[in-house]
Amino acid sequence: MLVSNKHYNTIWIDESDPGIIHTIDQRLLPFKFEIIQLKSSEDTFNAIKNMIVRGAPLIGVTAAYGIYLAIYKYNGLENIDSYIDNVAKNLKSTRPTAINLEFAINKSVEAIRNETLIQKKIETALQFANNLKNEELENSKQIGIQGLKIIEELYKKKKGEPVNILTHCNAGWLACIDYGTATAPIYLAHENDIKVHVWVDETRPRNQGARLTVWELTQHGVPCTLIPDNTGGHIMQKGLVDLVIVGSDRTSINGDVANKIGTYLKALASKDNSIPFYVALPSTSIDWNISDAFNEIPIEERDEQEVKYMEGLSKKGLDNFLITDENVNVKNYGFDITPSRLITGLITERGICKANKKGIEKLFPEYF
Ligand code: MRU
Repeated sequence: MLVSNKHYNTIWIDESDPGIIHTIDQRLLPFKFEIIQLKSSEDTFNAIKNMIVRGAPLIGVTAAYGIYLAIYKYNGLENIDSYIDNVAKNLKSTRPTAINLEFAINKSVEAIRNETLIQKKIETALQFANNLKNEELENSKQIGIQGLKIIEELYKKKKGEPVNILTHCNAGWLACIDYGTATAPIYLAHENDIKVHVWVDETRPRNQGARLTVWELTQHGVPCTLIPDNTGGHIMQKGLVDLVIVGSDRTSINGDVANKIGTYLKALASKDNSIPFYVALPSTSIDWNISDAFNEIPIEERDEQEVKYMEGLSKKGLDNFLITDENVNVKNYGFDITPSRLITGLITERGICKANKKGIEKLFPEYF
């Protein structure tokens, strides 16, 4: 998507040095747009762990490049299989909830295992990462095309009045390779001259909405308004929300969705106000092995400092501000699970389906 009118993807390999991967440092946005270089699997580990990169599809692709960099930098001293297994284990430990990460690492390691020559392993790992990047890019494009139909229908019903869409966290192009998941239909509607307006939840405590979603929508010229997390229910009651679209970090085969903490509350409020609540996700975010999301999806618990302190811009630059008693008890769950019964539908790259096993199976029969 566009940044200062220049087109970017979120991750790419250096044109002249195959040992360098470029990505956007999301920790600095919206105050500073900075590209950083990842030169080793340790760099990719840090990037994912410290949320330089974030969002389910992007962390999967970054991890795939991490495996590639590990083999590219392999010094021949250790047994190659245990070396790769260790790198894979470390990378998987960075963030537990989004299945894209585990999926990408397992697939990459499996592909490499089949090669005996180191040079071949390097080529295979790079090809896997590049292919996954292209697949996620295409997935987002298709999610946009599928989800556009929902917005078009609402636009017709509203007789040309803007369609008001609420979104949570950042499921935009920054979380993917391009276009996003929840935002892909929105960008497409905007490009097709369908009037849209986006309500963006600030998404405490990391403020992905306030810092990322609002920034990327604005860069692309999409009208949007930032709201505190607790505002959604009120504006739904006032008739100011036509549609909710969120992303997913992991979806079970019966359609329960793990996504950024607070998603569940928006789904409840949507149900109470008869507002369609859609989840946009690529199939790489579906965990084909899980049917009991509530017991089987690991929910990441994050540092209490994220809650006690708020990060913002001061005269000194990026700064942390204590917003409560330093000694207070804190619980910081990163994600929650929205049960399928609250979800109107899943917008995937192959079409829109009901959030249940039958619906998912119809679109992706090869997994059943
Ligand atoms: O903790 P984050 O910022 O990585 O959480 C991201 C989200 O919850 C997104 O909504 C999700 O990854 C969907 S991404 C297209």
